[in-house]
Amino acid sequence: MDRNLAMEFVRITEAAALASARLMGRGDEKKADKAAVDAMRKAFDSVRIDGTVVIGEGERDEAPMLYIGEKVGKVGPDSPKVDIALDPLEGTTITARGGENAISVIAVAEKGNFLHAPDTYMEKIAVGPKARGKIDIKAEPIDNIKAVAKALGKDVEDVTVIILDRPRHEKLIHDVRSTGARIKLISDGDVSAAIATCRGDAGVDILMGSGGAPEGVISAAALRCIDGDFQGYLKFRSDEEKKRAEKMGIKDLNKVYTIGELAKGDVMFCATGVTDGNLLKGVRFMDHHRAQTHSLVMRSKTGTVREIVAHHRLDIKPL
Ligand code: FBP
Repeated sequence: MDRNLAMEFVRITEAAALASARLMGRGDEKKADKAAVDAMRKAFDSVRIDGTVVIGEGERDEAPMLYIGEKVGKVGPDSPKVDIALDPLEGTTITARGGENAISVIAVAEKGNFLHAPDTYMEKIAVGPKARGKIDIKAEPIDNIKAVAKALGKDVEDVTVIILDRPRHEKLIHDVRSTGARIKLISDGDVSAAIATCRGDAGVDILMGSGGAPEGVISAAALRCIDGDFQGYLKFRSDEEKKRAEKMGIKDLNKVYTIGELAKGDVMFCATGVTDGNLLKGVRFMDHHRAQTHSLVMRSKTGTVREIVAHHRLDIKPL
């Protein structure tokens, strides 16, 4: 994949972040999400790729745009064939409430390299580079926490586990607490939580618990770029979900996926902050119809991580 493509993709997440950030705190999740989807879809039209959305807003019958299987990009004779995993607004509730860590994300790989994950839950564990290879999602939390503590040269009591604050995590939270480890409970947004495990300054060591399976594939793509580690297996809520997974080509419904099985080959990842977070600053709307965005652009091939602060003239290029 041409490295310059990464710079094209960041324009797309910027567009989605700008559009949805305008609706921050308005209490309308659907409207914020729609603004991000519309802006992202429009921005794809100017990128020279032959793209297929493999992780998107849902199946064709439930998503009018950016549905799974939708073709995106400006196709020309030399356009690369790529698969795209996206979430125009990761943190719809966060945005509606003006909370922290909402982002707009796109991950891109060569055709066939992302797991086509159904819209079900995934049990996840993620860690940063120093603990790579030390985790086992099927092990007890205490064993993973001890292994990560050893890899990081920390006491168990100084390890911080980030977990989505959900009733389904009651036992996990209890088990982690009984190890003595610290916990950071978050209301939403496990993609930025997974990335946070790789950034020493974020103060987070392990992500544990279940969240969206599509977000799991996106997280794995991001962590491939920054030498983190990730494992996950699908968790189904109904036979209907199992059937859908089988329809999408999943043969072993109990399989534990490694990071490399979720996102293979060369991967690019772009994210733009919608609201403020420990990963990225949110969109700032300034005087004279100007706005500022903060984005992350990463490539697995080189491991380069770029942070891009862009200044937008909304008087020249309105939203
Ligand atoms: P949305 O922005 O799409 O609503 O997702 C937010 C999120 O918190 C994800 O980060 C996470 O994977 C998933 O929802 C968890 O699902 P649930 O809210 O059902 O526990």
